[in-house]
Amino acid sequence: MNVLVLGGGGREHAICWKLAQSPSLDRLYCTPGNPGTALHATNVEVDPADHESLTSFAARANVDLVVVGPEDLLAGGVADALAAASVRCLGPVAAASRIESSKSWANELMAEAGVPSAAFEVADDPDSAFEILDRSNFPIVVKADGLAAGKGVTVAGSPEEAREAVQTMMIDRAFGDAGDRVVIEECLVGQEVSAFALTGGKSLKMLPFARDFKRVNDNDEGPNTGSMGCYSPVAMVDPALADEIERTIMRPTLDALARRGTPYVGFLYAGLMITDDGPRVVEFNCRLGDPEAQVVLPLLDCDLAEVSLLAAEGRLEEARLQTADGAACCVVTASGGYPGNYTTGYPIEGIDEAEDIALVFHAGTAERNGSLQTAGGRVLSVVGQGADLDRARQRAYDAIDKITFANSHHRTDIAANDPERIFA
Ligand code: AMP
Ligand code: GLY
Repeated sequence: MNVLVLGGGGREHAICWKLAQSPSLDRLYCTPGNPGTALHATNVEVDPADHESLTSFAARANVDLVVVGPEDLLAGGVADALAAASVRCLGPVAAASRIESSKSWANELMAEAGVPSAAFEVADDPDSAFEILDRSNFPIVVKADGLAAGKGVTVAGSPEEAREAVQTMMIDRAFGDAGDRVVIEECLVGQEVSAFALTGGKSLKMLPFARDFKRVNDNDEGPNTGSMGCYSPVAMVDPALADEIERTIMRPTLDALARRGTPYVGFLYAGLMITDDGPRVVEFNCRLGDPEAQVVLPLLDCDLAEVSLLAAEGRLEEARLQTADGAACCVVTASGGYPGNYTTGYPIEGIDEAEDIALVFHAGTAERNGSLQTAGGRVLSVVGQGADLDRARQRAYDAIDKITFANSHHRTDIAANDPERIFA
């Protein structure tokens, strides 16, 4: 079969890497792709947000399946456009991708489905938001309703901080339309875990759990980023907890979407807080995580092209998908200054040596005059694999030591302090 992957980050490089190993794959395309996806796929110049160009390319290249990486394309209706052109797509239609693109909509869906989450209220103007804050306890969480590239959440310790978040979102409009509505939410306390399911609308298969490190510096200090690393599996999620998450969170959410007439096809990502009262949803995303995909996909034992097509056809129950033993740890190398201002265009050395030890997925790189250069905030995802997390982590860091570019920055404590592993 011929597959087209949409996106151009580390997640999409990992998806292309895994698809390229699929016995059922004939041709693999990626747009826009990056120098890493080009190792496994033909990068093509088709604007994935331009639905007419996309569907005409899919027809020309006999594409059997499109796999969508990023949420903005899904929110923009790429799955709807492909369905209208009779092209199979792994990724939800816009109406179902609202689970990520509107936090109030997702909270209302969870309330309807009885899925454990945070108590919440919605405000459509600053005065209502301030009025809610006046009668709230702190800490509290203020969220821009729409897509804000991972920056739309403030965990406010005081009324002043919460009011400032409302000011930034609703009055200064730092996230544009995404902040015209805010959700004010109970602050959940516990351990964060990312859960992933692959679903074809009715049936679902749980994927390995992961833990993500969003702050830029060691010890979870500094501003939030798209994430500086992650690991999988997560020791605290034992089979009983995994079953509870599937039964009380993933299953009822998918059933509620199907009941509403918008069955969900694709990867569903639940950001969870494991509280003293059990798992609760912090947020849903309508895609694989980045960089969680870089650790989850290497741990899957399956023909990803075949499994993805079966999911897109609503026949996932026929698919063979198993989780491999062992662990994977991803460390992101970033451009110094990220997530603030940074400069790019620096030559990258040492990837070949690193690849003797670990997987190296490209995120912000570019090929210029025959040499590989930095071209983004997050530059590479370096993924060590091993029989256990310690060995996986060691390989990731041994490999990252081989890679050099000017102003590079990475965290040194990814997977170093897994609380369950140390105190269990
Ligand atoms: P983002 O991925 O940018 O949406 O950031 C969400 C982060 O904010 C999560 O990873 C949590 O750490 C935090 N967060 C969001 N909602 C809550 C909540 N209700 N209680 C506690 N922390 C939250
Ligand atoms: N790693 C967080 C995300 O993909 O949203």
